[in-house]
Formats: sequence, C-alpha cells, structure tokens
Amino acid sequence: MERMKRTATCGELRAANAGRRVTLNGWVHRHRDHGGVRFIDVRDRYGLTQVVVDADAPEALRSLAQDLKFEYCIAVEGEVRPRPPAMANPRMPTGEVEVRASSIEVLSRCETLPFMVDERADAKEDSRLRWRYLDLRTFSMQRKIELRHKAAWATREYLVGRGFYEIETPLFIRSTPEGARDFLVPSRVNPGKFYALPQSPQLFKQILMVSGFDRYFQIAKCFRDEDARGDRQPEFSQIDIEMSFVSREDVFELVEGLFAHIFSSCLAKDIAVPFQRLAFDEAMDRYGSDKPDLRFGVELQDFTPFVAGGGFDAFKKVVAGGGTVKALVAPGCGEYSRKRIGELEETAKVYGAAGLASMKVTEAGLDGGISKFYASQATAIVHALGAKSGDLVLLVGAERRIACTSLGAVRSQLGRDLGLAKADEFRFCWIIDFPLFEWNAEQKKWDPSHHMFTMPQERFLADFESRPGEVKGDLYDLVCNGVELASGSIRIHDSELQRRIFRFLGMSDAEAERRFGFLLEAFKYGPPPHGGIAPGFDRLVTLMAGETTIREVIAFPKNTAGVSPMDDSPSEVDAKQLEDLHLRIVKEGP
Ligand code: AMO
Repeated sequence: MERMKRTATCGELRAANAGRRVTLNGWVHRHRDHGGVRFIDVRDRYGLTQVVVDADAPEALRSLAQDLKFEYCIAVEGEVRPRPPAMANPRMPTGEVEVRASSIEVLSRCETLPFMVDERADAKEDSRLRWRYLDLRTFSMQRKIELRHKAAWATREYLVGRGFYEIETPLFIRSTPEGARDFLVPSRVNPGKFYALPQSPQLFKQILMVSGFDRYFQIAKCFRDEDARGDRQPEFSQIDIEMSFVSREDVFELVEGLFAHIFSSCLAKDIAVPFQRLAFDEAMDRYGSDKPDLRFGVELQDFTPFVAGGGFDAFKKVVAGGGTVKALVAPGCGEYSRKRIGELEETAKVYGAAGLASMKVTEAGLDGGISKFYASQATAIVHALGAKSGDLVLLVGAERRIACTSLGAVRSQLGRDLGLAKADEFRFCWIIDFPLFEWNAEQKKWDPSHHMFTMPQERFLADFESRPGEVKGDLYDLVCNGVELASGSIRIHDSELQRRIFRFLGMSDAEAERRFGFLLEAFKYGPPPHGGIAPGFDRLVTLMAGETTIREVIAFPKNTAGVSPMDDSPSEVDAKQLEDLHLRIVKEGP
C-alpha cells in the first residue's frame, strides 16, 4: 500500500493544484468512454474527482482502466490538470480539474451490485438495510452520519464547557420497567436470573446526583421492547442530562443554550431562545396535541357556544353529556370532495371521534354538510371562527380529550396535505404543567404520565391522593415541528414522598422495595434536590437532517419488524448456548 497511499482526497483538488502529482484512493463511482479516452469518477468520503486515461496512455494502463467496474476500490496516481473550459463541471467542487492517470492499482474488486451506489438509487428500504455498507457509501447517507457526528461533538463541547462530566452507566441492570417492556439478558453464572437493558439511565443518573456529581450527561443507549415506528427504534440514543440544586428554569436555560449551540455549529442556523412555552391544557385546547407543530396556525376553536341554538342533535347530546364540540377552519378546502373529507374523518376516528362534521364557507354564509342546522347563526359562526369564503369548517363533538386529539390529528394531516409548514423552519416549544397522572381505563388505575420519579407541583403535595386528576407535575417536554424531542422533570428526592407516589400508583411497599429498593436506600443518605431531561438524539438529528424517519440517521438501524437485515438479528442460537444459559424454547402453536 505504501506506494499508492493517498496524497489527496477526492474532494480537495482545485484549479490551483494544476501540475501537482497526486495519489487518490477511493471507489469507482462512474466510468465512461469518450472517443478512446476513459473517464473514471473516483469517490471517497470527501467527494468525487474525475480521473482520465488518455487515448495515448500505455496499453496496459488502458486495458486495466477498461476492466474497472462500479465500486472497485482503486488507487490512482497521476497529474492534476485543468479541464478545458467547455468540460468544466460547475456542479462538482473539483469540477475545474481532472487527474491524468499514470498508474492505477485495483485494491479490491466489487461483485455485481444489488443496487447502484448513487444519489439516484431507488432501492427498497430492506435492501438498503441488507447492504447497509453500500447504502452508507452514498453522499446523502454520509452527510447524515456526518451531521450526527457533529451534533454529538457539539453536545459534548457545550456540556463539558458548562462543567458537566460525561459518565457511563451500566447496560446490564436490574429490570425496572419504565413504561415499555424490558429487553432481558440471561445470566449464565446466576441460573434463572436476568439482567435488563436500560430503557434509560433514569435511576442511575439520579443516584449519581446522590453521589455528588452535580452535573452529569451521557449520550446514552436506551433499549425498549416496543414496536418500531417512524420515530421509534428498539435501541436509540438520548442526550441524558441530570443536575443537582436546580429548578425547571435552570434546565430550560441549559437546554436552550445546548440546542442553540448544536444548530449554530452544525447547521449555521440561529434558533430563537428562550423557547415559547405552552401549558399542556392550552396545547390540547388549541392544537389537540401535546406535541403541536407551531409552524402553522389552523388552531382548534370552541364551537360549543353555538350548539344550543342549532338543530344538530348529535352535538346537543355531546354537550349535555359534559363533552365539547371543537372546530377548525381548513383554509381554502371548501371544494374538498366527499372522499377527501372521508379520509380526514378516518384520521379523526383513529383517535376515538364518532365522526367528522363539515360545513363549507361561502360568500353567503355556510353551505353543505351540517350547515342547515346552523343557518340562523351562520354569520356569527363565520365571524367567530375567523373563516373566509372558500374555507371548510371541520367539527368533532366528543368528550373533551377525544374532541381535541382527534381534531388535532386532522389538523396535522391538513398541515401535511396543504404543505402548511416551512421545511427549513424550526419552532421549538416547551410543554409545561403536564398532569402527573393518567387514568388507565383498561386497568382502572392511575398511571404516571411520565415516570414515577417526577415531583408533583408544590401546591399538590399535601393532598395529591385525593384529587389525582387535577395534579400537575413538575415535568416538561420539548417539542419542535410536531416532534417530541425531549422529556424531563424535577425529581422526588424524598423517600417518603416517593413511597407515597408508589403506593398511590398501586405498588405495595414490599413491591417498591423489591423493584426500586436501591434508589430508596440511596435516598436515605442525603440526596440533593435534582432534576434533568433527556433529548432523543436520533430524533434531534432526524429533524436537523429534514428526514421523517430516525432510521435515516442511524448507521445500522432495525427495520419496522425490529430486524436488522444485514446481520440478520435477532437470530436463533445454538442449543449449547441455550443450555449454558439454562433456557429452553417453548414452541408455540400446534
Ligand atoms: P422519555 O421516555 O420521554 O424520558 O424519553 C426521552 C426522549 O427520548 C426519545 N425517545 C425515543 N427515540 C427513539 N426511539 C424510541 N423508542 C424512543 N423513546 C423515547 C424521545 C423522548 O422525548 N428518563 C426519561 C428522561 C428524564 O426524565 O430525564 C426518559 O427516558 O425524544
């Protein structure tokens, strides 16, 4: 290799380098013949350079160049020369020059490709994951992985600069499910016992606070046995942060600074801080979501005041039963066909709405759909909703939460259909004042909305057990463009209060001891007040890259079935391995 070791990358040569002798190492990206002259675009991480084997080159070199195929890994030695002006390629940074090859060495050959390594590659995702190393060679994937690297670097730079220590926490821990199922690892030396992979380092970061490391962070791997979707992976990364002696304001200030630094250093983009704040109840009322996309308006409005004076019985029943009727004005959608409205209705139904009513806004007032029931109030309705002729009013009547979330889903769908959001805008927002508990109708019990270690807001401390539905927690989410980017809270640091929460959630003292005894014990030894947050790192990079699935910014992700088609995991294991682990597979079915 010594002789053909690279002296320049494929992205750096310019007109000023003309005359320089260089060696390039890289892959054959494209090749073509032009009247006996052979052109080979050589690619590496840094770019593409055109290599030329002239018609008068020695026969051996010409024949070797003829035999080069896509993705051969080669070394080329030659002289940089300016391209004739007509041949310059202004779209390529190296487009003013080419390298006239004097020798070429094939470092390794490439078999017939499953798909072309090219920006135009249109391969199915499973093929891209099966041959991920080829997919990762494309410039678009290389840019995304570079962006991820830069974001990780900027994170460390910022947090270390503010006195944080990066501390690793174990990947083999006791099973302490946080909401999803745990992945379990059987212990060979402790038959019948299992480690769990952490769903997040939550308990360990709290214990690090007890240990006096008052500013901790880690880009932590987290594992959750849940179905993979566009923004979920069974293993993912968080920028995990915990701080002692802080209030919510300190956490916000830190994260705003962190994000401003990441965006300015990785995307040269200034983001406005401090971020907007929205109380959870207001977010639900206005956007029907606790992760609203604030790049566009189309807010949910209250239609309930018009119900009594109208003749639509379904809405009257809803209101009589304590529900609400929410409306939104779909701009310029007055001519939507029945079919398109039906599609929006399906979206609303996913969130529990019984239906989606509609009325067209015309110069004369309201028309179509359920408008005949509101004829006498048409002008007042159009005025109150701020609608214009040509708009479409969409309505859901239901229990408040369902009315809001289902119409919120319609709002998001319209945002996508009508292209209401600017792709290069980032609208951050803190969602605050979340309920601490959520009613689990299936199991008829209260669940924590976030996790069990969140502090109730002070005004609820005395009697949260007697009015659980009203209790707000000292917890917060950071959302951007409709994506939940981070969650965090101020934690309970008092073991008695922690036990009260466990008991209220239906966990006996014995069970709490069994599952979280080590945390409760640590809290006996002078725990500091503390709080933290965990931005999802993959989601952050996805957003920065303008992508819609986190698989695009992870080098080796799992597909939606939780499978990695490249190494074919998960896989069966040898009987001997199972035996060592004291495990037996129970075959299901006949
Ligand atoms: P939470 O469970 O809300 O909080 O997770 C924090 C953030 O992690 C990201 N995230 C995910 N990203 C990809 N795939 C997943 N399956 C996935 N699940 C979550 C989201 C989310 O906002 N320990 C607490 C944090 C704390 O209280 O400090 C926790 O893990 O962006």
